[in-house]
Amino acid sequence: MSFDDRQSLNLVPFVSVDDMMNVVLDIGIESCLSGIADYIAQDFARWELFDKTPRVAAHSSVGVIELMPTSDGVKYAFKYVNGHPKNTREGLQTVTAFGVLSDVDSGYPVLISEMTILTALRTAAMSAVAARALAPKDADCMAIIGNGAQSEFQALAFQALLGIRKLRLYDVDRTATRKCADNLAGRGFEIVECATPEDAVEGAQIITTVTADKQYATILTDNMVGAGVHINAIGGDCPGKTELHRDILLRSDIFVEYPPQTRIEGEIQQLDEDHPVTELWEVLTGRAEGRTSARQVTLFDSVGFAIEDFSALRWLRDQLERTGRYENLDMIADPDEPRDLFGMILRAGAKR
Ligand SMILES: NC(=O)c1ccc[n+]([C@@H]2O[C@H](COP(=O)([O-])OP(=O)(O)OC[C@H]3O[C@@H](n4cnc5c(N)ncnc54)[C@H](O)[C@@H]3O)[C@@H](O)[C@H]2O)c1
Repeated sequence: MSFDDRQSLNLVPFVSVDDMMNVVLDIGIESCLSGIADYIAQDFARWELFDKTPRVAAHSSVGVIELMPTSDGVKYAFKYVNGHPKNTREGLQTVTAFGVLSDVDSGYPVLISEMTILTALRTAAMSAVAARALAPKDADCMAIIGNGAQSEFQALAFQALLGIRKLRLYDVDRTATRKCADNLAGRGFEIVECATPEDAVEGAQIITTVTADKQYATILTDNMVGAGVHINAIGGDCPGKTELHRDILLRSDIFVEYPPQTRIEGEIQQLDEDHPVTELWEVLTGRAEGRTSARQVTLFDSVGFAIEDFSALRWLRDQLERTGRYENLDMIADPDEPRDLFGMILRAGAKR
């Protein structure tokens, strides 16, 4: 009997933060990143059949709370995620998330999961999938500007999927760089902690920007980006929150997840509404070209799209039987006679 047949629909598997950490430790982070990357690639290959909408964002002066839904007609998923750059100063995380995967046929949820760790995994896997198609083939050195919660995941995904072995780290807060370097020690990287962003990009064929700041920031200026570089821009993901100088965008070939969302949230919010961009799924399916020359600057203007979370939840659900890292939540009311919901309460009362 399969896991799905054994699992009763009213009991919903729940993956806690503790479970998720154990999934990563049981499977190994490289296998998690590669596994999620495979699921993302599969789902991007069938991009057209998904329901797609820009995420629903509730902005405040200090951050954003977003809902990210999508469906392939068989499964439905949504993620709740926040982005609050000021949080780390208060001992809280910038990004936290949880999500749900459901069965479209019954409408019943089939997985509830923490997604703070899962988001870091899927964002890094997505970046590496994009870079595999766009970065110079011989890239072995990556600069990471912004050495916070996402940074180690990015480094490990680029090592696992692209063979990156040299890292040049920079953060305005040197303790963040130290933390990142310490966490990645002994994992086969040659790591240089840099004093300036200019130093960090020196000799890097890939530049990852993954900073958090609620403003139009200029993490990279035009003179910092040499010919042939691939930019993996992660941190500009909200209206009024960007990382790259506009001039870089004007001389880059820009690749995006879902244009209607990226035009609102990505680096390209700085450009005209009709500025040409290429959808990444078209590159991954061979319908559009990715990198076409050694001197071209490619930019993955990442904001994070719902299909990536769908893929990550689908991947996680497929690990449940193997890892056993979940508990069943009594989430869905299950009266013996489906219409007798109130009677179920009465019977429970009689038993008390
Ligand atoms: N595109 C996506 O899919 C996606 C997914 C997750 C997170 N994000 C975004 O990625 C960013 C980083 O997330 P996180 O969880 O690592 O945040 P974090 O707060 O843990 O880390 C951000 C780091 O950036 C550093 N920083 C801020 N301004 C800087 C500057 N000017 N130069 C260098 N470093 C600077 C901070 O000191 C901090 O160490 C956030 O903006 C978040 O919204 C994007």
